Amino acid sequence: MEMDTMEESFDVAIIGGGIIGASIAYQLSKMGRKVIIIEKDRLASQASSAAAGMLAAQAEIEEDGPLFQLALKSQAMFSALSRELYEYTGIDIEYVNKGMVKIAETEEIAVEVKKQVAYQRKWDPKINWLDAKELQEMEPSLSPSVAGGMYLPNDGHVQPAKLAQALAKAAVYFGAEIRENTEVLSFIFENGQVKGLKTTTGVIHSEQVVVATGAWAAKLMRESGLDIHVYPVKGECFSVKSEKPIINTTIFSDKRCYLVPKQNGEIYIGATMIENTFDNKVTLEGIATLIERATQLVPQLKEAAWERVWSGIRPQTGDGIPYIGEHPSWKGLFVAAGHFRNGVLLGPVTGKLVADLLTGRLVDETLLSAFHLERHKQSVY
Ligand code: FAD
Ligand code: GLY
Repeated sequence: MEMDTMEESFDVAIIGGGIIGASIAYQLSKMGRKVIIIEKDRLASQASSAAAGMLAAQAEIEEDGPLFQLALKSQAMFSALSRELYEYTGIDIEYVNKGMVKIAETEEIAVEVKKQVAYQRKWDPKINWLDAKELQEMEPSLSPSVAGGMYLPNDGHVQPAKLAQALAKAAVYFGAEIRENTEVLSFIFENGQVKGLKTTTGVIHSEQVVVATGAWAAKLMRESGLDIHVYPVKGECFSVKSEKPIINTTIFSDKRCYLVPKQNGEIYIGATMIENTFDNKVTLEGIATLIERATQLVPQLKEAAWERVWSGIRPQTGDGIPYIGEHPSWKGLFVAAGHFRNGVLLGPVTGKLVADLLTGRLVDETLLSAFHLERHKQSVY
């Protein structure tokens, strides 16, 4: 059969081959479902290969709530998941669990970070405040002007592109198919039920469809008559390498500057936040700002060797939390998108929740109520 007239059937069609789509595919395939991932470009070619890979539940999410609780659950899944994926695929996702320091550059910021320490200790009593001297002992390359920091021993990181590849390959191990260079154009609906998809290479029949298209989710969902508030936020990063390690733990200054020491010796330094653009060019201005911030924090970085630059498009939502749930009008059509700055961290738990939802195994549906698709109708954003 010619590719352009191809028609096939699957139990579940997942649109988007990033970490979120691949994680859902892995869990569903393991449960015995016949799954296909349809990706317009290549697997993990967008945000999922641009991420720094931090599993930064406590550093990134400052308030308790459904998103924070989901993040803690997902963070706890990584240790077992990394072993499991290695067993099925031979891919090492480079899970490093050496902790993170969320630093306070001034005494004024230290007051706020100390409050966070007290609060975060509810969930992890090992979290503590390091004063300037203790911080210098732990990270001697850090500028002595830093006032202190919150030490988060359980904040690890992974190599995001490898995580996405491993999840997809593990899904294939359990029978999934992957269709790259294929764009989904629209849905096929009949009597209130999704029946399949029209793609650039043919029709795919499926009574369960998951939209996991990251920053591109709003565009595709408009084809179903539903407006969801997902919009792009570009992030630029660069990396350096040095013969001797410069830092041991992740240094998180604020949401515009962090340094992540990777297993291969690279230090990832990120990231800018540029709203409302799908143009992923890396600008000199973006990288210059990052270099200035990073070398103020760790002056020794100036001696490191330049490695590379890159960028990606984060999927942000109106209220900062992802959409996970079923379409209000079309049975069988689901969305899992809008994971913004935390899609790597939230990948494992999203995969498991969505797979449970689709297979009727989700015991407590209230777990997903905060993420439902029509919530913007009730809020002011
Ligand atoms: P994506 O990886 O963007 O995948 C969506 C896929 O859908 C794409 O491959 C796209 O090609 C495909 N697609 C779109 N439309 C269609 C269509 N019509 N048909 C077929 N395919 C389609 N998160 C963390 O947890 N920790 C971090 O440290 C971290 N750092 C980050 C740093 C940067 C610079 C950036 C940009 C992001 C970072 N993130 C981080 C966020 C994380 O990368 C994202 O939240 C996550 O990758 C989103 O995954 P996704 O699968 O939803 O989206
Ligand atoms: N979570 C890091 C970033 O999005 O830049």
